[in-house]
Amino acid sequence: MLVLGIESSCDETAAAIVADGAEILSSVVASQIPTHEKYGGVVPELASREHLRKIELVVDEACQRARVGIRDVEGVAVTEGPGLVGSLLVGLVYGKALALALAKPLVGVNHLEGHIHAVLLENKMDRRAGKRVEEGRLPAVTLVVSGGHTSLFLVEDGRPPANSLPVFNYKRLGHTRDDAAGEAFDKVAKLLALGYPGGPIIDQLARWGNPEAIDFGRIKMKGNPLDFSFSGLKTAVFYRVRGTPLALEAEQRRAWRKTSASARADDLRAHCSPQTLDLIASFQNAVVRDLLERTLAAADAARVDSVFVSGGVACNSLLRASFLDTSRAQGFRVFFPSPALCTDNAAMIAAAGYYKLKAGLRADATLTAHASLPLGT
Ligand code: KG4
Ligand code: ZN
Repeated sequence: MLVLGIESSCDETAAAIVADGAEILSSVVASQIPTHEKYGGVVPELASREHLRKIELVVDEACQRARVGIRDVEGVAVTEGPGLVGSLLVGLVYGKALALALAKPLVGVNHLEGHIHAVLLENKMDRRAGKRVEEGRLPAVTLVVSGGHTSLFLVEDGRPPANSLPVFNYKRLGHTRDDAAGEAFDKVAKLLALGYPGGPIIDQLARWGNPEAIDFGRIKMKGNPLDFSFSGLKTAVFYRVRGTPLALEAEQRRAWRKTSASARADDLRAHCSPQTLDLIASFQNAVVRDLLERTLAAADAARVDSVFVSGGVACNSLLRASFLDTSRAQGFRVFFPSPALCTDNAAMIAAAGYYKLKAGLRADATLTAHASLPLGT
């Protein structure tokens, strides 16, 4: 079954063609980074306009790259939330109109469910391609960690024994009470005038700093210990900068970045003092340690030995190394999608939508966008 996936929940306009929820024939992502860069964050109104400009081109290109005609598509899966409503509506209305015109079934997909399916999709593709990777089996504890989300889920195979097609059960174990981890990366990068989006830049610069230079301490949570909170850590970084030479240095960097087109990490590094690099490395270390510890606590509590990590922050090199090292030491299996499938894309939406379509789920004309859309129980 060929499924067209459409994703427009934030600042990427994406379309993909996926066969049988297991093979990506094409995945096209139009990034809006140049539009939002100068504001240091996503501007919702501008995002909606960019989606409108790009949606048709992106869907056309997905079909071309997959070498399929739009009429070959057998189902349409579109992100219905959570996300920016104006952005979501662009992909949603386009997907609805297309499904109606083609007389093909349509399903709405939760963006977080998409990130979870990115792990399963890539695992299936790797094994089909004969790569020696372990099977990403369920149940698994999944950390979805991005610019908009930081959540832990228990994902189970909920299929009845007689039915061969997986139907998934999601149990929400914890979520962020304030900033998402990626948001904290982006805000710290903005404060230090490092550029946008902040996560990849901090990831690179942190290699030149000492992650133990500043001990930010453990993030304490009252109530559910599997919840997250990163705004305190972000504020701690803010106070380490305000009124110190680091603030002046950040202003000088801001001025330099305005006049320089260079986006190279070593040029940026040359404009960062050792103290700034230590602060960046220590901040990243504190975020990664917190994500790792809470995910392991969730896996322990759920008694599972499979851990999935997905979302933009799952590209982070320290995070990947920390999860992999710990998994070897503690005997659990960890699965990440490759970076292109960690960040927002439509292949993950098509893959998640495939199972819904196969299970007979159909969206009707009432399908609409939801700024917040909880996944699971
Ligand atoms: O999944 P995504 O593309 O969009 C959302 O659903 O939010 O994630 C984007 C987020 C941004 O906050 C970005 O700074 C962060 O992922 N990110 C990273 C890295 N690459 C992207 N954070 C840390 N290290 C990275 N290498
Ligand atoms: Zn996302």
